[in-house]
Amino acid sequence: MKKAPVAPPATIVIFGVTGDLTRRLLLPAIVNLQQSELLDPATKIIGVGRDDIDADILCKERLPGFFEEDGAAWKSLKPRIAYQRGDFGDEALYQALGEQLDASAMFYLAVAPSFFGPIVEQLGKAGLLDEGKGFRRVVVEKPFGTDLASAKALNARLLAQAGEEQLYRIDHFLGKETVQNIIVSRFANARNEAVWNNRYIDHVQITAAETVTVGSRGAFYDATGALRDMVPNHLFQLLALVAMEPPINLEAESLRNEKVKVIDAIQPIAPEDAVRGAYGAGKIGKEKVPAFSETEDVAPDSSTETYVALKLAVETWRWHGVPFYLRTGKGLTARDTEIVIRFRDAPIALFRDTPTDSLPPNQLVLQIQPNEGIKMDMAVKRPGPLIEAVPASMSFAYADIFDMGHRTGYETLIYDVLIGDASLFQRADQIEAGWRAVQPLLDAWTSGEPEAYEPGSAGPAGADELIARDGRAWHEIG
Ligand code: BG6
Repeated sequence: MKKAPVAPPATIVIFGVTGDLTRRLLLPAIVNLQQSELLDPATKIIGVGRDDIDADILCKERLPGFFEEDGAAWKSLKPRIAYQRGDFGDEALYQALGEQLDASAMFYLAVAPSFFGPIVEQLGKAGLLDEGKGFRRVVVEKPFGTDLASAKALNARLLAQAGEEQLYRIDHFLGKETVQNIIVSRFANARNEAVWNNRYIDHVQITAAETVTVGSRGAFYDATGALRDMVPNHLFQLLALVAMEPPINLEAESLRNEKVKVIDAIQPIAPEDAVRGAYGAGKIGKEKVPAFSETEDVAPDSSTETYVALKLAVETWRWHGVPFYLRTGKGLTARDTEIVIRFRDAPIALFRDTPTDSLPPNQLVLQIQPNEGIKMDMAVKRPGPLIEAVPASMSFAYADIFDMGHRTGYETLIYDVLIGDASLFQRADQIEAGWRAVQPLLDAWTSGEPEAYEPGSAGPAGADELIARDGRAWHEIG
């Protein structure tokens, strides 16, 4: 097994250190990196927040319980964590930061999107993005804009302060092992690529189903909705990895050049090719859930969607005529992120007792989460005197072969920022291409209502009708 090199020394400045993202994902990921001995001993962390606390209170009270444990990684990191109080709009904060930064630094903006622009402007104004004494990189969380115009404006605002190569726009799906595996599965197995086109593939389905409801994120979610929250970013990134042409190498720019071509080739989605839903009141398993519109901080007359299903076309030589069906939603029957590559039926009906249209599906299922793995569904002969084609699967589960450990998915992302590898981050043009494809829906959905669906179900009936219209059906969730 190859060992990754230790990252160069740097100060990790986390804006929004007292927030949920830092507690749940960022700090655990940094601790895991320390545990894997991938951080330089000189790595420092400065947490920036508005609360009047110090590093000790931050570590004791604001960070999760496992930090109380005696782990060597945490013990080594803790003395290297500092806290800087300040208002994100106040120049004094940036002066104070400047006094503590003498070499390379990464600024992680784990804050509400309205602060992305102002913080980067202040960093620029204070000279903290000058790379004279070491690298200066900015990590921007999602959502990046709320539509095409705002994403363009935000890109322009950030690029006025920093070079594109200094900006790391996060899409945390790209930190998932099984998402990164798409590239290896496709391009390290020549057999796959031989059939990876419109001659052999009938259609592709990409699903990100969640059982969780909107819960305490009412204010954010009511203003965002399932389309903005998941489609132009996470689902389009999965689509890009499945549909892109082979890059000439694995350098960030080569990969990103190929991905943007595919996202650019997604045709603007017509409203008749999309269905939106919102869950009503009911139960998921044994747990009672309120309707989305009755959730705290959601307007009772909200027309925000918690589910979306789409059919889209990727107009390239390889994919012409192959529909891509995407769906995502909250409060569904199971947590299931998967990509299904459905192959065409065998060209002639050789099996008289099994008409071609009822042959078992020949499909490749890339299971992104949970139970990460790959499954090939195909037809085999049922033993016996008759020739009868029945379904069977070949499958592989990551957990059977590898130690998956307890990783947050942010380890690789943070490590890559430190080593300057932007392959897993979104470039400005990708973000804008994603918004461009969904913009017709954003425009159309300013009026009308989402269709209600039962919590704990597979989504609204309209989604089944959308795909049934083409004589196809969704792969079962779960
Ligand atoms: C986030 C969305 O980006 O991704 C959430 O804002 C969603 O609404 C989450 O729940 C899903 O990520 P994961 O890694 O849990 O599948």
